Amino acid sequence: MIKVMTVFGTRPEAIKMAPVVLELKKHPEQIQTVVAVTAQHRQMLDQVLELFQIHPDYDLNIMSQSQTLYDITTRALQGLKTVMELEKPDLVLVHGDTTTTFAGALAAYYQQIPVGHVEAGLRTGNIYSPFPEEMNRKLTGAISSIHFSPTLTAQGNLLREGVNPDNIYVTGNTVIDALMKTVNDEYDFTAEGLEDVDFKNHRIILLTTHRRENLGEPMRHIYKALRQIVEEIKDTEVVFPVHRNPLVRKVVEEELAGVDRIHLIDPMEYEPFANLMHHSCLVLTDSGGIQEEAPSLGKPVLVLRDTTERPEAVDAGTVHLIGTDYDKVYKETKELLTNEGAYAAMSNAVNPYGDGQASRRIVQAILYAFAGATEKPDEFNV
Ligand code: UD1
Ligand code: UDP
Repeated sequence: MIKVMTVFGTRPEAIKMAPVVLELKKHPEQIQTVVAVTAQHRQMLDQVLELFQIHPDYDLNIMSQSQTLYDITTRALQGLKTVMELEKPDLVLVHGDTTTTFAGALAAYYQQIPVGHVEAGLRTGNIYSPFPEEMNRKLTGAISSIHFSPTLTAQGNLLREGVNPDNIYVTGNTVIDALMKTVNDEYDFTAEGLEDVDFKNHRIILLTTHRRENLGEPMRHIYKALRQIVEEIKDTEVVFPVHRNPLVRKVVEEELAGVDRIHLIDPMEYEPFANLMHHSCLVLTDSGGIQEEAPSLGKPVLVLRDTTERPEAVDAGTVHLIGTDYDKVYKETKELLTNEGAYAAMSNAVNPYGDGQASRRIVQAILYAFAGATEKPDEFNV
């Protein structure tokens, strides 16, 4: 019997770790599963916990309004110290690249507990973009004993950094496991604020923005460009679930409040959001997770960033990396909405990020590496 503690704190970590937690719980005779959340996000985390019916054993409740990186790091590190001292897990699993991820890995390392890194090996090569995620994932990788890389590209990044190949498993991304459990052609979504959207006659542009490096002027440029687009192209509507970060909300309010056919709503629960993506024509985002999900639903994605650690869908042609410049956002969006050939070229459904089996592979690898199982998992390989 081994004790595996899963640590997460934000919305995307919860969405991507939920399938892993549910899979760990399928092996009660070999694995004792403990879930500790920092609650770096509060409402946006709780929405996911409720959907997947995950009841954390520990909830540090660290979120504060306009929290700094120092706040999150120190509160999470201190809180997790106590939890790990009490539970003494055999393995701590963290996900991705948030500050919770790094603090969780560091807390485990200080107690010499092995760390498993889910979504390991993503890199842009620029430690300030995305900030602080690129450094969070590099530091977490340096601490980890076992790495679950979603793709061969991510595995290659780790190999180049000298990670022992025996400790890397290529599993696919668990976000595709979550998405496959959630998107359903029959789903009839009713989200507050969407009652007025004309899904029948209008094309829906889905927009999300939250990256720290886009706060302020870059976001302002994006919003001005979208405002111009809906003004010119009358059969379009923008649905924009606005992140709860007050710094995001301020600029959104200044640029987009009250604009016809732009719907500003609160962050949506994952199930209606994923299904809304399925009903959208086009996605504009600076999110990591959405860059992985939308291509698998055949939706063109314009990524509002200068760098991406997810080159696979760019290579497949369904994602364009366009940055945040007003002219670029305006032109690229307009092109896709007015040129059928350009749209068709970007709207192939591709699945470079996973096949829905990532959590099964991760748990099989844990049983192999830590619990004496004889069979290694198969490798995700597109
Ligand atoms: C964090 C992660 C980022 C991830 C993103 C996903 C870090 C440094 N950043 O960024 O990697 O992509 O989450 O969304 O780890 N807030 C609420 N309620 C919530 C969530 C947030 O009110 O449920 C507000 C709070 O005022 C909080 C602020 O948003 O202080 C910012 O949250 P924070 O986690 O610091 O940064 P994100 O931009 O969400
Ligand atoms: N998401 C959601 N509701 C929303 C917006 C996004 O459930 O209103 C989901 C989305 O499907 C994806 C994840 O949240 O799985 C992405 O989170 P976010 O963009 O906050 O973070 P990132 O992926 O950039 O770290």
